[in-house]
Amino acid sequence: MCCQFGNRTDLIRSHTRYRAFPKLRKHGHVNRQLARHLALAAIENGEPLAWFEQLYGQAESAGVSIVPWADLQPSPNLVSWLERERIDGTGRSALVVGCGLGDDAEELRRRGFDVTAFDISISAIALAAKRFTGTEVEYVAADLFHPPADWARGFDLVHEAYTLQVLPRGLRCKAMGQLASFIAPGGRMLLIARARDEAEDPGEMPWPVTRSELGTLQRVGLEELSFEDYFDAEKPPVRRFRVTYRRPAIVGRA
Ligand SMILES: C[S@@+](CC[C@H](N)C(=O)[O-])C[C@H]1O[C@@H](n2cnc3c(N)ncnc32)[C@H](O)[C@@H]1O
Repeated sequence: MCCQFGNRTDLIRSHTRYRAFPKLRKHGHVNRQLARHLALAAIENGEPLAWFEQLYGQAESAGVSIVPWADLQPSPNLVSWLERERIDGTGRSALVVGCGLGDDAEELRRRGFDVTAFDISISAIALAAKRFTGTEVEYVAADLFHPPADWARGFDLVHEAYTLQVLPRGLRCKAMGQLASFIAPGGRMLLIARARDEAEDPGEMPWPVTRSELGTLQRVGLEELSFEDYFDAEKPPVRRFRVTYRRPAIVGRA
């Protein structure tokens, strides 16, 4: 149980005061206070996934700048991988996990994939659909922990960026099992997350992942194809893991 975050009344009192927060984005600096307060209060209430809809719901009226990860452009960590690997998605399917406002999903569609993108927040899905009117991406409100049955082993590429790191540690193992379950035989997953060493303090949300945590993905049957541990080009630079996995193809099938 994650209860080191202080008195619940204080948390609730402080996040109802969010309107008084200083500018939420100032000179490119992202203010994460509101998201952190909502996250901690949700965990305290025993509903660790509730805060995503609370945050995006408020963004529908207050503007998307209150969502700390809403850069309104595809992740450079995704784009540089797509470029370097010369990925062409023509004729292939992709599933975007925790798609938020949809920029990564649209990028994969531009590169030819037939894209399904989902998020637990119905408001995030509504915002994404509104931003990309006429999109060919299928946006779906769904929970990683209760996905539609027909997604099992259904996708050539699963793209997961930054969802694991906003889930409490207690949910990550199950989350990774779910991520793996979406990959078709012979298909791949690209996973991008904030990174830390085992002994390093996870600090505040987003809580970076460790390499040993990611070991779960191999235990559930995936092969690790590549593992990058690097600092990205953000200011200040952020340490990331960018990892690709593959589900072995079924041998003996014609
Ligand atoms: C840190 S954000 C990253 C969003 C997006 N991938 C991006 O890079 O902008 C994590 C996203 O995961 C979504 N999420 C969290 N838990 C989820 C779950 N159980 N099922 C589906 N989406 C979830 C959140 O609503 C949020 O949009």
